[in-house]
Amino acid sequence: MTIITTERAGDVLVVISNNPPVNALGHAVRDGLAKAIDAAAADPAIKAVVIRCEGRTFFAGADITEFGKPMKDPQLPELLERIEALDKPVVAAIHGTALGGGLETALACHYRVAVPSAKLGLPEVKLGILPGAGGTQRLPRVVGAEAALEMIVGGAPIGAKKAAEVGLVDRLAAEDNLAAEAIAFAREVADKRPLPRTSERKAVAEPGVFEAFRAKNAKKMKGFEAPEACIEAIQAAIDLPFREGLEVERRLIAKLIVSDQSKAQRHIFFAERAAAKVDGLPADTPLIPVKSVGVIGAGTMGGGIAMNFLSIGVPVTILEAEQAALDRGVGVIAKNYANNVKSGRMTEAQVEKAMALLKPTLSYDDLAQADLVIEAVFENMDVKKEVFARLDKAAKPGAILATNTSYLDVDEIASVTARPEYVLGMHFFSPANVMKLLEVVRGAKTSDSVLATAMALAKQIRKIAVVAGVCHGFIGNRMLKPRQDQAGQLILEGAKPSDVDRVFLDFGFPMGPFQLADLAGLDIGWHRDPTRRETVREALCAEGRLGQKSGGGFYDYDEKRQRTPSPVAERIIAEFAAAKGIPQRQISDEEIRERCLYTMVNEGAKILEEGKAQRASDIDVVWVYGYGWPVYRGGPMLWADQIGLKTVVDGLKRQADRLGPDFSLSPLLVAKAEKGETFN
Ligand code: 3HC
Ligand code: NAI
Repeated sequence: MTIITTERAGDVLVVISNNPPVNALGHAVRDGLAKAIDAAAADPAIKAVVIRCEGRTFFAGADITEFGKPMKDPQLPELLERIEALDKPVVAAIHGTALGGGLETALACHYRVAVPSAKLGLPEVKLGILPGAGGTQRLPRVVGAEAALEMIVGGAPIGAKKAAEVGLVDRLAAEDNLAAEAIAFAREVADKRPLPRTSERKAVAEPGVFEAFRAKNAKKMKGFEAPEACIEAIQAAIDLPFREGLEVERRLIAKLIVSDQSKAQRHIFFAERAAAKVDGLPADTPLIPVKSVGVIGAGTMGGGIAMNFLSIGVPVTILEAEQAALDRGVGVIAKNYANNVKSGRMTEAQVEKAMALLKPTLSYDDLAQADLVIEAVFENMDVKKEVFARLDKAAKPGAILATNTSYLDVDEIASVTARPEYVLGMHFFSPANVMKLLEVVRGAKTSDSVLATAMALAKQIRKIAVVAGVCHGFIGNRMLKPRQDQAGQLILEGAKPSDVDRVFLDFGFPMGPFQLADLAGLDIGWHRDPTRRETVREALCAEGRLGQKSGGGFYDYDEKRQRTPSPVAERIIAEFAAAKGIPQRQISDEEIRERCLYTMVNEGAKILEEGKAQRASDIDVVWVYGYGWPVYRGGPMLWADQIGLKTVVDGLKRQADRLGPDFSLSPLLVAKAEKGETFN
């Protein structure tokens, strides 16, 4: 197949790219474009050029799979200079997404025509780099520094209508008539001179815009290297002539592209897409149509789960044990939707439509027509079994029955039904209407169709799904356990909760384990008997320290919920340690890191060993999207690869005496470390 073809439309040369799926600007595309531009230059009968793409989108960027390999000529920056230098007008005809190198190509063209549904953006920052084909220099020259900062440092695309308002798009074309309107436009401008070359324009910045942007976005940019480089490059567009600005851009991208951060962010880009693929599941596995959903339990999770479906127009019947709980649950859903209206994420009309699709009930009979029922009742095996036994009788044959359990054995739950092949886990994360991750837990008997349907549904409700096998805590919570155990032990041996949390914050987590515990509430699962103090949490609860909500937990909190280390909590912890006869000592940050994070890597390796995750990158996706692992560290398994598996094993061996009786090294981790291999 020829990737770049050309057609004559009278005196206009139409250059067409056909490089599915997203017309990435790989070598064949660049080479074809260069030849087409040369042909246009050489042919006096050609007065203008249109560049457009076949398939679902305009160029969606450089070909990311070429990163880290030697790039074959023509390089994109040089190609774009040739396009811009052509002495005949070049028009970009944009549909789908003009992203990264794609938008940079459009910026090098003299004019841009787009359909209203098109999106234009420079998302490179999300891959830990910056636009490296002149984008940081050309975009500010078209839209000014402020808008360029938003687009380049924020990385989110803008719609074509907005792009037309800010001067990035010269004309909007009808959705179904882009090719013809772009040619007509090219004819209109064929004789217009001088040609509007972006590089010849002057970039402008309001005074103070860079400082204001940095201040406003400091929190979002913390820990990341690319955003500051983006800002520096845009500053160069304001301060320097075009060529010198390009040099700055080139110097900055050369450094970023080989950085561990960028490798980690690119890893997550591909890991996210790989996670959607289930090994051994034929592509033509039939899907079960899901037109209505039931949810059992209208608590924290049930309500959020219901919202996912209501928001995409799927009716939900929500069942509770008692009227009061049902009313409360429905009230919370309504309140969350009202907040979405306040924040501008939804309109009143959208919320009304969603709420009209919600049917609260106390009767299992009302679940008889649901195609999928998700259970989110208390985390208790007996309760879950009772619910599934009733549900199995009430639900129609062929309906999928899912459990949102965090830890329990999905096969045991399935065993009380007459249809274990229709049972699986759909483990959402809290808040379920917000968090991107969904662990899809494949039971021993779950059928291919049921699994494939759950994966497809996840995409519809805009979740990132990862397949997990049945084991205690599946992927995420199973790996959380060694981390929690070690953190809990460390504070008994002399580390302060704030020391442990600081190590996590420095690493890039949004919160440390003790901050998180205080936020969630220390009384979750507490037996409420102040005389029974078998754990530090119980001791804290017994003294009324339930976390943020009571003004104190591991930390003290003021009225604004700002935390400070708590002498009271530290005394309670020290007394608890003394009662257990645990000696106190100075504990280094390194020990905290090794004990909390290396043990997670070790558990991840065991999960792989046992086949409970399909691939190491799935584990990374779980941690980045479900637990706040900093994306620039690529997830626990990639992070371990980057620091070296031998480093991890050596650290675990060094700490072995302190890791407790439950700890054992993963043979897979040890073997890979010895052979100098990596997980990814
Ligand atoms: N390079 C290589 N492969 C790419 C790619 C790219 N830029 N963009 C997408 N793909 C691949 C995906 O990996 C996926 O492959 P798979 O089918 O084997 O898993 C396939 O194309 C389809 O992608 P999606 O599943 O993501 O398709 P969607 O329709 O959901 O989304 C999209 C399309 C919005 C274009 C999305 O793919 C996307 O955001 N792509 C990345 C865009 C990007 O980051 N561009 C900047 C690249 S860096 C750059 O241009 C540097 C320059 O400044 C020099
Ligand atoms: P919750 O206590 O907020 O809600 C549970 C709801 O189920 C309550 O409203 C209760 O009235 C109802 N319920 C109890 N027994 C019932 C029955 N027999 N029939 C109908 N309704 C019944 O609990 P939460 O947090 O929503 O957890 C639910 C499930 O989700 C648990 O399995 C939990 O492990 C899991 N989960 C919880 C997460 C969280 O962060 N809270 C995260 C992911 C999963």
